[in-house]
Formats: sequence, C-alpha cells, structure tokens
Amino acid sequence: MDLLAHSREVILKYQHKSGAYIACPNFPTYHFCWLRDGSFIAYAMDRSGNFESSDRFYRWVAMVVERYAGKVAVLAEQLRNNEKPDGSSILNTRFTLDGFEEGDNGWGNFQVDGYGSWLWGLAEHVKLSGNASILVDLAKPIQTTIEYLKLVWKLPNYDCWEEHPEYLHPYSLATTYGGLAAILDLQTSGLLNLPEMGISALMDEVKQFLLQNAVAKNKFTKHILPPNAGLGYTPDATSGVDASLLGLAIPYKVFPLDDALMRATIESIETDLWLKGGGVYRYKADVYYGGGEWVLLTGWLGWYYALAGQSAKAQQCKQWMEAQADKNGDLPEQVSQHLLAPARQDYWIKEWGPVATPLLWSHAMYIILASELETSKH
Ligand code: BGC
Repeated sequence: MDLLAHSREVILKYQHKSGAYIACPNFPTYHFCWLRDGSFIAYAMDRSGNFESSDRFYRWVAMVVERYAGKVAVLAEQLRNNEKPDGSSILNTRFTLDGFEEGDNGWGNFQVDGYGSWLWGLAEHVKLSGNASILVDLAKPIQTTIEYLKLVWKLPNYDCWEEHPEYLHPYSLATTYGGLAAILDLQTSGLLNLPEMGISALMDEVKQFLLQNAVAKNKFTKHILPPNAGLGYTPDATSGVDASLLGLAIPYKVFPLDDALMRATIESIETDLWLKGGGVYRYKADVYYGGGEWVLLTGWLGWYYALAGQSAKAQQCKQWMEAQADKNGDLPEQVSQHLLAPARQDYWIKEWGPVATPLLWSHAMYIILASELETSKH
C-alpha cells in the first residue's frame, strides 16, 4: 500500500463539493468541517501539488466568514459593554459542510485557533502554488478575520482539543501570531493590499504575552489562567506539557526551533508524551477514548525532527504512522494499545462508536511529514 497516494485519495475523495473537508466520514460526530483540521489538510494538499483542492477549501472558508461577518460588530459591542461573548457574537470552530453553523448542541464552539490557522494556511497556499489571484477575492474575509482576532485573542476560549474554555492556550495564541505574520508577509511582498490594521504591533504584543504569561520552569505551559481575584494572567505551572505546544515553532514560528524555551518544551514532549518506539500522546491526563497515541501528533513531532535535521527520528515517526494504517490504508485519530486511562475507553466507544477512521487530519500530517523528509534530502 502506497500510504502517500492513499492519503491524497482519502482527502480528495471526502472533500465535499462545497470545498469543505469533513473531519472523518465514518464517525457521525465528526461530520463537520473544522477550520483547524481543514487548514492542515489544505496545507498537505498544497505540499503535494493539489492546489485546486486547497483553493476550494479557502474559498469555502471565505464564504463562511463572510456569511457570519456581522457577528464581529456584535462582539465588539458586547466587549465594550463588558458582556461575555456568546452564540450571537463568536465565530464558530466547526461548520456543516455547506458552511452553516451546526446549531447550539452544547458542544463549545468558541475556539479561536482556526482563525489564525486559516490565514497561515492561505499564505502557504499562495506561496506553494505561486498563484496570488485568490487574494483579490478573499481580501474582505481576511480583514474580517483579523478584526475578529484582535477582539478575541486575549479571551479564555476552548483549546485545540476542545477542552478547558476557562483558560487561554499558548497553541491558540501561536495561531493568532502565525496568521498575522503570514498576512503581514503577503502585504510586505505587495501581494495583498489591506488598510493599516496594526498587524505588526499586535504580533509583538502576542509574543510578549506568551513570554510573560505562558512560561513556568523554563518551558511553555499548556494553559494560561485569566485574571482572577486581583491577579493578572498567570502561567498554569501544574498542567504539564501538551504536544500542541509544537505549534509555537511549527508551523506558526512564534519562536525558532533552537529557542531555549522551545527546546526545553520539546524535550518535555519527547520525555513525557512520546512512547518509546510508539506514538505521541496529547497530554498526560488525556482520557478521551482512554487517552491513546495520536497519529497526527506523531506526524507533527516527525515534522519537527525533519526540520531540525534529525531525519532518523523523523523516519521512525513516519514508520510508526505507516504501521497504524488499517487494511484499507486508513489512519485513525488515535490508537489504543497503550492507553493512559484504559478505564475511560468504553465510555467513549458507547457514546460515539469506535475511534474516528480515517481521520483526514491524520492523513494530512502523514503527507506533510513525507514531503518534509523529501525536501530535507535535497
Ligand atoms: C479534536 C480536535 C479536532 C476534532 C476533529 C477532536 O477530538 O480534539 O482537535 O479538531 O476532533 O478532528
């Protein structure tokens, strides 16, 4: 089985005619398109030359942002009045494949990371395809997204695992930084013409915010506690490392790979979350489906190794991912051989069925890792 070819096929096969990528076709709970998953999936399509697919995805995102753009003014008004954002003002993380909100089913939708991610992915799309014409059509939703990020970046919201709405999360802040940096780059190179929006100043602010509020014991923390009882924002030193912290360097480049804090954080990920000879956990206290090793995170760590010139370890990650493919070549979201919380597995299987397979984001990370290993050979 050629897993690279199969991964591309899976993504293309399940891209909806609207341009949306379904998170997983065989798992009813994931019959939506997430901006987070979608941006990585589109990036994988760009890395493998399937520009038409990613182009359709970004046009779909733009259509969705335009559809709900009116909410940004509502949010600004709520914040001016010291009110909490709610369903009338936040831009959702998940949408139906036709690009509509799913309706309030109690599953938190205030997750800001996807909004930085799609801006990052779009700029990569332009770079990799060499075609900037899409920017002419997307200028307005790009501007709306930046206005939205300016309002929300410092608010508590759900993390990229759709948990802990009471905190802020370095990963989510990194997406804001990465999205803004990408847009600034397009502007500086004359490919995009937006009004002055203070992008560069905001980037500095986000980076300083991370340095001040997301560091404990010389590494980045999983969460940041919002101001409370007279205290300002505080790093949550108790929660341990989270594999999503890789995002601070790759792909959002808030910090370079050789930054001391970044290196110490990645070392913690290796020691605490990478099972020797196996895959990568999200975080130690994970109980979702019993807390297995995540295929996409193993690809992400491998991506780091490939970029850091440690190709043997990158190959190890890639081979482990390959070994997780089922008889059809499909990659799951997580594998359950070495669960962190085995007693919690059944609950989820009864609730939502077997682990989501194929997960398009897992296939995307396989493509990205394989492509990075190819690039690093030359
Ligand atoms: C993950 C999210 C992901 C979603 C769809 C959730 O279980 O925590 O990161 O966006 O699944 O794949």
